[in-house]
Amino acid sequence: MSILVTGGAGYIGSHTCVELLNAGFDVVVVDNLTNSREITLKEVESITNKNLTLYSVDLLDSESLHKVFENHTIDAVIHFAGLKAVGESVEKPLYYYETNLRTTINLCKVMEAHHVHKLVFSSSATVYGIPEQVPVLETAPIQATNPYGRTKIMIEDILRDVAAASDKWSISLLRYFNPIGAHKSGRIGEEPSGIPNNLMPYITQVAVGIRDELSVFGDDYPTEDGTCVRDYIHVVDLALGHLKALEKLDSSSGTQAYNLGTGNGYSVFQVISAFEEASGKTIPKKVAPRRAGDAPVTYADATKAEQDLGWKAERGLLEMCEDSWRWQSHRSKQNAK
Ligand code: NAD
Ligand code: UFG
Repeated sequence: MSILVTGGAGYIGSHTCVELLNAGFDVVVVDNLTNSREITLKEVESITNKNLTLYSVDLLDSESLHKVFENHTIDAVIHFAGLKAVGESVEKPLYYYETNLRTTINLCKVMEAHHVHKLVFSSSATVYGIPEQVPVLETAPIQATNPYGRTKIMIEDILRDVAAASDKWSISLLRYFNPIGAHKSGRIGEEPSGIPNNLMPYITQVAVGIRDELSVFGDDYPTEDGTCVRDYIHVVDLALGHLKALEKLDSSSGTQAYNLGTGNGYSVFQVISAFEEASGKTIPKKVAPRRAGDAPVTYADATKAEQDLGWKAERGLLEMCEDSWRWQSHRSKQNAK
């Protein structure tokens, strides 16, 4: 079976390629490498001792995408490609709407033309905005606080309409909570360009001395220690969720949304403590003002994924921190060479 992975050179995509290859799938990656590097896929090949095929193609380029489908018999698509920086999406909304929506529309049109109707889409817990209740169920109200989040809501709507128009389609909308961690080998992981927006890459960069100190955005939230609570999920657990979702597409039609989270919430201070324990490093920090748009508390009810897909996250916070730290240490040593 051949799986097309868009955005397969990126953070979550590369970890999913490892699990797909390990499970015996043939993997074809389409990635324009705007936020990733080809070497990551070489690492994937070396970790798994298997080969994959990379097309350095922009999903906005339908003609090239058609050629990929002509060259391979694709059974299903996992669609990671897209832009994901919340702050940038506020500054450049048209760039975000155009890229995230048009790439997905192009992809679906090309899939349709080649009679491929199985799709797993990277949605996000951002579609719940600031949830009224936790744990968050898939049936919770949908709302977003920024253009990036609205692209995910719009794409979910588009995909529901596509599946409603033809029962050939089977589409899984996976709503990720907060992916962190890295592959055990330390050879692939999250690699943000510039100053990290997200908590874990910022912490790891402070730990290796790239940044001086972490700003904790707000300690006056109505939580136990005053800092925001999130559902951090190991990227390998997340990757494995995609394999379960793929399997399910064979026996279902229409669209289904699934939360992929652990069901546990941890505060910013708890994450910092866990990281300090895992790495043996102290993370200098200061409390800074709240960041606009942050939900005080969000974590998943992931029961639906467990019941329908037979998937459950297994890796805990300490392991996530150990693996993030191994990856960052490895990268820093490589950069120093
Ligand atoms: P990433 O940036 O590491 O990976 C995305 C990949 O898509 C990159 O390799 C990039 O080069 C590629 N890409 C971007 N635009 C493209 C285009 N026009 N054509 C072809 N390739 C293109 O991001 P990630 O963290 O791996 O996220 C993957 C998906 O998961 C994204 O859709 C993101 O919105 C979603 N998601 C991520 C998170 C998170 O915290 N990382 C949380 C929820 C949802
Ligand atoms: N935080 C800090 N300091 C930092 C970075 C983050 O205190 O330097 C705090 C944030 O205020 C928040 C928590 O750490 O309380 C987590 O923040 P992240 O930016 O790591 O994650 P978010 O929950 O804000 O958002 C992430 C992705 C979104 C995705 C969402 C899914 O950035 O794209 O998870 O829930 F949609």
